[in-house]
Amino acid sequence: MPDDHKPIEIEDIGSNPAPREPIGALIERRLSRRAALRGLLGAGAAATLSDQLLAAAVPAAAQPAPGGAALPSSLGFREIAHRMDERDAVPEGYEIQTVIRWGDAVLPDAPAFDPLRQTAAAQAAQFGYNNDYVDFFPLPRGSRGAEHGLLAVNHEYTDPQLMFAGLREEKDGKAVSLGEGARRRLSREQTMIELAAHGMSIVEIRRQDGRWAPVRDSRLNRRITGETPMRVSGPAAGHARLRTSADAEGRLVLGTLNNCAGGNTPWGTVITCEENFNQYFGGAAATTGAQAAMYKRYGIVGEGSYGWSRHVDRFDLDKEPNEPNRFGWVVEYDPYDPQSVPVKRTALGRFKHEGCTHAIAPDGRVVFYMGDDERFDYVYKFVTARAWNPRDPAANRDLLDEGTLHVARFHEDGRMEWLPLVHGQGPLTAANGFDSQAEVLIDTRRAADLLKATPMDRPEDVQANPADGRVYVMLTNNTRRKPEQVDPANPRAANASGHVIEMIPPGADAGQADHAAPEGRWEIFLIGGRPGVDAGAQYHQGTSPEGWLSCPDNCTFDSKGRIWIATDGAPSTHGVADGLYAADTTGEGRALTRLFYQAPTGAEVCGPCLTPDDTTMFLAIQHPGDDKGASFEEPSTRWPDFQPGMPPRPAIIAITRKGGGVIGS
Ligand code: FEO
Ligand code: CA
Ligand code: CA
Ligand code: CA
Repeated sequence: MPDDHKPIEIEDIGSNPAPREPIGALIERRLSRRAALRGLLGAGAAATLSDQLLAAAVPAAAQPAPGGAALPSSLGFREIAHRMDERDAVPEGYEIQTVIRWGDAVLPDAPAFDPLRQTAAAQAAQFGYNNDYVDFFPLPRGSRGAEHGLLAVNHEYTDPQLMFAGLREEKDGKAVSLGEGARRRLSREQTMIELAAHGMSIVEIRRQDGRWAPVRDSRLNRRITGETPMRVSGPAAGHARLRTSADAEGRLVLGTLNNCAGGNTPWGTVITCEENFNQYFGGAAATTGAQAAMYKRYGIVGEGSYGWSRHVDRFDLDKEPNEPNRFGWVVEYDPYDPQSVPVKRTALGRFKHEGCTHAIAPDGRVVFYMGDDERFDYVYKFVTARAWNPRDPAANRDLLDEGTLHVARFHEDGRMEWLPLVHGQGPLTAANGFDSQAEVLIDTRRAADLLKATPMDRPEDVQANPADGRVYVMLTNNTRRKPEQVDPANPRAANASGHVIEMIPPGADAGQADHAAPEGRWEIFLIGGRPGVDAGAQYHQGTSPEGWLSCPDNCTFDSKGRIWIATDGAPSTHGVADGLYAADTTGEGRALTRLFYQAPTGAEVCGPCLTPDDTTMFLAIQHPGDDKGASFEEPSTRWPDFQPGMPPRPAIIAITRKGGGVIGS
């Protein structure tokens, strides 16, 4: 969700109230040492302490390669330019295809899309709104095919001002973004359309003659919505705080909401992550009820920005105080079986899950890396109790129900620790209100607070590079971090453009990364923003004036181990479109980021996802046209259709090379 004009600052309202002690003192100590060495103290009157630290710690800001000399990057595409436009762009020699858009048919009985006559029933059979996570599962199952497969896509949230006609609002004669009050004018049918536009789509796709297209009547196509029944499993299943009047057992939930990014498992299932679930719930109990402190820590306030409680009782805290405890989880399902019941896996904790990606430890246990996307929240990993079984898929079916959740603490000296969230250990006892592991998981944020995890600058994707096992953390931004709150892992106050941390498990340098280990090392990979404008921006010295990025969000790696970083926020921080950037992670071209794709105005870039042969890059283009004051009637772009009367449509695109070939090669 873009940062500058959402109805409520979603990542603010639940934010960690008291990032302890960070760490100004510690920074100052470190700075004093360096300053003493370099004579830096007092330099740059406008710079904060952390800026000075960075200036001391890193090479000068990026400069273009002198005289057009060959860059050390392994990437072979011709970089495009930063700009803002109603259309998107790729480098010369590449092309963009639209694979599927909001409103396109997913199920065989889906009616043709008519945004002026939309119904909840139609939406439940059509591709949902605001696609985020996108993943490609080859067909047949278990193959490494790249011409035929299933697209699994999250539909994170809805944007009624762009979905429905007649909601345009003005203030002082100028169009403004839809406020909360207006959102509460939505009809019951519009609320039900919104519920149906959330969730996921699974769509069979095929490439023929170089063109990707959905298979219209595939029996594998599926919609999961805000109302699809799903099972709860793991330590919190059945707990009293998960029970509601519709579900006395606390084991069966309707729907999944605000599914942002995700991941997959070695056994071929989808992992989809519930992020800003707080927005959907409201009621007086938010401030007065028995769980008010928990609601506050998760950002559940007032009437909720969606206003759904007016039409659907389970979103009303005063009627169903436990319903929000059934959201904020990681959900697993089998994309190859359209009848499979999705499962909320409570062992992986309850927070605003951005994504959840896996790596395999040398002993075969599977490790899932996760970020809690809120200002001053944490980086987590889950380690399965048992090794996975590559020969027997049934043996892996409930592997995610047993294991240990950990939260990260980053130390000044480049070491890091993974602190286990286990009931009875350390402060996670009855004396602090935790009677069971179920409560540690339902209140994951409070448990992690007590363990003194490191409060981060909004952790989004956390993902291991399959080439060497180093793990990258996208920290999107945190403008609320004050100078006295900076620390070595979050080294910039008022961090508008974010940064990327590299976590190095033991053994990684020897090709045997132990992702299950309780400790590791970390480094800064890059610091976002525009060199020369944003203090502290840090890239490879050869990064061009087009190669800098702002607000890293999702990432992936190609077969050569190069990182591809998608951004969400550059329009509000720098007035340029969001995009997709690529860089080497090792060698002479390390952190030499280059701009590969530029989104249409208003959009963020999600995914990214490559086919197994690296010849197609799928991207989810989310909230195109969502600029300040844009409406159904007056969008800032009509991407991707550019038809009069048709609003912008979130869509999955496929980027390929003209004539075929490896992306970025
Ligand atoms: Fe939905 Fe953290 O972005
Ligand atoms: Ca998003
Ligand atoms: Ca995201
Ligand atoms: Ca984001």
